[in-house]
Amino acid sequence: MAPDKDLQNLKNVLKKHNQSHLLAFWPQMDTAQKQNLLAQIRRLDFDTIDQWLADYVRDYTPAHPPHHFTPAPSYAPVPADPDQEKKYTEARRLGEKLTSQGKVAAFVVAGGQGTRLGFDGPKGNFPVSPVRNKTLFQIFAETIAAVSEKYHTVCPWYVMTSPLNYHATKDIFEANDYYNLDRKNVFIFRQGTLPSFDLDGKILLAEKDTIASSPGGHGGSLKALYDSRAIENMKTQGVEYLSYWHIDNPLVNLFDPLFIGLHVLDAAEMSSKALIKTGPFEKVGNFCLIDGKVTVIEYTDLPDDLAQKQNPDGSLLFELGSIGIHVISTSFVERLNKDGFALPLHRADKKIPHIDENGNLIRPTKPNGIKLESFVFDAIPLASKSIILQTQRAEEFAPTKNLTGLDSAQTARQMMIDRAADWLEAAGVNIPRKHDGSPDCILEIAPGFALTREDLAEKLDRIPRIGPGEKLCLD
Ligand code: UTP
Repeated sequence: MAPDKDLQNLKNVLKKHNQSHLLAFWPQMDTAQKQNLLAQIRRLDFDTIDQWLADYVRDYTPAHPPHHFTPAPSYAPVPADPDQEKKYTEARRLGEKLTSQGKVAAFVVAGGQGTRLGFDGPKGNFPVSPVRNKTLFQIFAETIAAVSEKYHTVCPWYVMTSPLNYHATKDIFEANDYYNLDRKNVFIFRQGTLPSFDLDGKILLAEKDTIASSPGGHGGSLKALYDSRAIENMKTQGVEYLSYWHIDNPLVNLFDPLFIGLHVLDAAEMSSKALIKTGPFEKVGNFCLIDGKVTVIEYTDLPDDLAQKQNPDGSLLFELGSIGIHVISTSFVERLNKDGFALPLHRADKKIPHIDENGNLIRPTKPNGIKLESFVFDAIPLASKSIILQTQRAEEFAPTKNLTGLDSAQTARQMMIDRAADWLEAAGVNIPRKHDGSPDCILEIAPGFALTREDLAEKLDRIPRIGPGEKLCLD
């Protein structure tokens, strides 16, 4: 327990910053609880918190878009002219070479709480594949193994968790024997958390001796890579580029040679894949150009008239949506951290369980508090150069946010089936289809069988006939 003087000092600090309630249950706590709470309070930087409260609670006004911005330029999925075709070919070769030299690592951010999915445990353990019911972790592990085999190399995997799901994630990897990957090439680490506040800026207590906190958003990954010494570990392994993605996208094309190659050829520090939005108000960030820098403007911050504005050909002026797929140079992460960077925070009003002044647990039914988060795409304008490569939704983006409905496990499974059917058909395999054109079968292609549609062409002799209503996993 803290000596009386230390405790008095702490009380003074809390009083000065209007957070005295954090010690409200002090007299009722045993020594272990007191130590636990003190350790958490000491980790808080109250001057910074006061600044956040001024910016995001007391004087909060939702962010306004900058005065002048234009659509960001991008590379199309297929080259636009012969010169570009040459560049794409060169980029692909370079991406393959860098991957085969072990200079590219997989980097998944899996520190989120997955509240919308409502799944018990880390989201990566969610079973999603249509036939074998493989989990997201397993699909990615098999992909990494298949890429390593294809390029005769070892692709390391960095997995960012949060303090809330780190141990559970480790346990899952242990229980699955690291999905047959060499565990020394899998680096699981933690991002930081931020305290949660009530609507007046008071820090909430989850329990009498526990501050309510949550992971600070995927923007925390760039700091966590450095603080956890993952970046140092990468250096010793010769890793120079990260293939970054979100844990809930089973269709992601990891180690895309074209994307990696264009990033390197253009000397970019952080690059992004983009989709053409489904409509003006799709809930994805918008790639824009501000003062010559690629910047993502959130859908909530793009005025409706601009969101709806069209080009003469009818396409949306701001048509490029951000999907959480990046290539990031490790030297960029290092530079940002050495420069002591800080990404802006974003306020989210949420239902935050907490205890009230009598110590009773409250489970709110409407938003009662504020969480602050940083977003990884806010680092893009800090890059000296950044490129965007368009990709196709059906090929590469199946966000598994909810259990059913839009962007759900259901739609992700269907997209996995649809993509498999598409690849197979393109390779000349007959796929039974329903009247509405959707596949009349349940298909799965294991990453070890084919990583791309081109890989399938070499395996045609191993693909059986597929009848209506059948289930088939190619592995
Ligand atoms: P989402 O914004 O979809 O959040 O994260 P989430 O926590 O997974 O789900 P909800 O909003 O609670 O339903 C996009 C990606 O960013 C990661 C998530 O794990 C996911 O891969 N993430 C999010 C982090 O790694 N850390 C965070 O603090 C937040």
